[in-house]
Amino acid sequence: MGNRTFTMIKPDAVKAGHIGAILEKINAAGFRIVAMKLTKLSQETAGAFYAVHRERPFYQELVDFMSSGPIVSAILEKENAVADFRTLIGATNPAEAAPNTIRALYATSVGENAVHGSDSDENATIESNFHFAACDVYGA
Ligand code: CDP
Ligand code: MG
Repeated sequence: MGNRTFTMIKPDAVKAGHIGAILEKINAAGFRIVAMKLTKLSQETAGAFYAVHRERPFYQELVDFMSSGPIVSAILEKENAVADFRTLIGATNPAEAAPNTIRALYATSVGENAVHGSDSDENATIESNFHFAACDVYGA
């Protein structure tokens, strides 16, 4: 699965009406959408998704934010998907995100930063499986 990554358009960006613009950027960068849905995480599912961060000081705030409204989750396909998508979204803190990256354009703070992108092939698989069954994925 080295050619796939997992993303979420986070509640801030959905609320602000940026789903279309962000999907345009994703398509323009050469990613193919192989699974996608609009959904809403509960406190429990957001907490489980971000369990790796449970000891971090921002964990509860992150869980509250990620369960505060609808999100779009998707699996994206492209050669070198994980690294290329991290480049497309920019740094976690939008103040440090390169110009024209999705976070530079649409994130408002380090917490409310518009999009998620997997940080490794292994996590891309884990996160994709968390959100989608095999039968939801095109070409699976
Ligand atoms: O999302 P990314 O991989 O760039 O960053 P992370 O270090 O894995 O953190 C996950 C998420 O936690 C971030 O995207 C932010 O939404 C949030 N976060 C935060 O609220 N405050 C921080 N100091 C760092 C991260
Ligand atoms: Mg991360």
